[in-house]
Amino acid sequence: MKLLVIHGPNLNMLGYRNPKYYGSFTLEDLYDELTDHFLDVDFTFFQSNFEGEIIEVIQEASDDEYDALLINPGAYSHTSIAIRDALEIIQFPKAEVHLSDIEAREDFRKIDYMHEVVDARFMGKQIDSYVEAINFLKDLVV
Ligand code: DQA
Repeated sequence: MKLLVIHGPNLNMLGYRNPKYYGSFTLEDLYDELTDHFLDVDFTFFQSNFEGEIIEVIQEASDDEYDALLINPGAYSHTSIAIRDALEIIQFPKAEVHLSDIEAREDFRKIDYMHEVVDARFMGKQIDSYVEAINFLKDLVV
């Protein structure tokens, strides 16, 4: 499976963020863990703090290039109708992931513009949220 993994704002700061929600690993550690865990997945990783860059990467993701898409939009989950609309166009399997449980935190995090336009949402289990999401996508792709 060729998988595009997109991370939104402040996720490049993993390792410095509140460990209660985000653990103490870095984004590179997360990439390494996923790469080691899923030897049969061909990963492309992208992170940006800019909404428009994320939208452009989603727009350019064609199904010739990727089989599935996984996104942790960070705080844009709660604000970005534009990223939601870009995700809606994607015709291949897509999942949303969060390290923390956004339903169990501040009320503003309960607003999630993404989850209606993805096939599934995984959250609250830190790296295991990603593992569950990738297993789900693998089942959809084969
Ligand atoms: C997050 C949750 C968001 O509310 C927050 O803004 C993030 C990370 C998560 O992975 O738990 O930056 O998406």
